Amino acid sequence: MRMEEAGAAEPMRFPPVALCASAELVDGGLAVPFDVQCGRDCLRAFAIRYNGQVHAYLNRCTHVALELDLLPNRVFDASGQWLICAAHGAVYAPDSGAGVDGPCRGGLQKIELTESAGQVFWQPTERIRPVDFG
Ligand code: FES
Repeated sequence: MRMEEAGAAEPMRFPPVALCASAELVDGGLAVPFDVQCGRDCLRAFAIRYNGQVHAYLNRCTHVALELDLLPNRVFDASGQWLICAAHGAVYAPDSGAGVDGPCRGGLQKIELTESAGQVFWQPTERIRPVDFG
């Protein structure tokens, strides 16, 4: 019996959400922040550009649940090659969110982005959705 016949649920697909113009994300530069609903919590997230590609993560360090940026949207270190938490120096890979140095306990939670016609979109999931202001 095939999965469809057994009534297996398809993963729910959500429409992409417009985030910002492509030009707002500069390689190794300031992040673009956005808010997401994660369970009952409204959390900050951020988008960056690194080696030409756009990436986004929940703005929540894995050491202590703090946002990475002390100065707004400054998530890259001075070299523009690593994401760094301003609190205690946890270092993350910009292209995967993997924890690579410092007191991090795992990697950042990635949020999928797409880029099309000069616009960046983020992809909601069952777990991470647009904020419900209702
Ligand atoms: S809270 Fe990020 S390194 Fe400690």
